[in-house]
Amino acid sequence: MSHSYQFSHAITRKPSPEVVAGLRAVDLGAPDFALMLQHHSDYIAALRATGAQVIELDALPAYPDSVFVEDTALCLPEGAVIMRPGAPSRLGEAAEMAPHLAQLYRQTVQISGADSFIEGGDILVTGHEVLVGRSARTNAAGIAELAALISPWGHRLREVITPEGVLHFKTDCSLLDADTVLATRRLAASGCFEGYRVIEVAEGEEACANTIRFNDAVIAPAGFARTMARLTEAGFKVVQIGNSECAKLDGGMSCLSLRFTPQP
Ligand code: GLY
Repeated sequence: MSHSYQFSHAITRKPSPEVVAGLRAVDLGAPDFALMLQHHSDYIAALRATGAQVIELDALPAYPDSVFVEDTALCLPEGAVIMRPGAPSRLGEAAEMAPHLAQLYRQTVQISGADSFIEGGDILVTGHEVLVGRSARTNAAGIAELAALISPWGHRLREVITPEGVLHFKTDCSLLDADTVLATRRLAASGCFEGYRVIEVAEGEEACANTIRFNDAVIAPAGFARTMARLTEAGFKVVQIGNSECAKLDGGMSCLSLRFTPQP
C-alpha cells in the first residue's frame, strides 16, 4: 500500500461565513457562501465514497481561511507535523488543528522556530520523497526544521522552488500515483520532477493542476475538460467537484483536507 495516496482518514473543516474575508492574490469578487457549502459537501461525499473516514471539524470564524486545513499539518504514517503558516492571519490555525491530530496519532511534533514558516500546500509527498517548495509562505528555516523532524521517520526531503507569483507548490501540481504527477508546464519545466512520469495540464487549464489522488479516485475541480480527458486516457478514475468559490480565494482540492493513515 502506498502511503502517498492510500488513506484511511481525512480531516476537513466547515467554511465559516467569514470565509468571504479570506486571503486572495487577485480580487475576483466575493465567494458565494451557499455555493461554497454545497461544493464542500460534495467534496466530503467524494472522499467518503472511497471508503475513508472523514472527520468534519466545526467552522472557525476567527480564521477566515481555516477551511483550507491542509496548510496546518503534514500527516505521515509515523506521525503528524504541525506547521507554522507564513500568512500572519493563518498562524493560529495550526494550534487549532493540533489537538485533533494528537487524538489520532501516537506522535505529533511541531515546527517551532520563531523564524520558521511552512504551509502544507507547499509539500508534495510522493512514493519516494517529500518535496517542499520554497514560497512566499514557506522559508528555508521552516524547510530545514521539517527535514530534521521527518528524517528519523525515514523520510527524505528535497527542497524545490514554487514558481514566482504562485501561492503554493501544489497550486501547480498533484500526485497521481507513487511515480506520476500532474503539473503545469511552467513547473514541469523547472526540472523538479526528473525521474517521475509527468502529465501536463492542458494549456489554459493551469487552474486544475491542484487535484488529489485519494484511494481509487483523482478528485479534481470541475470545468477543465481537456485535462480531465488526459487523466481518463491515462487510466485514472476522475471525480469532478465544483471549486469556483474556493478558487476565488486561491484554494483547490488539496487545500480542503488533511489525508492520512496513522500507524497503529
Ligand atoms: N486563501 C488561501 C490562502 O491564501 O492561504
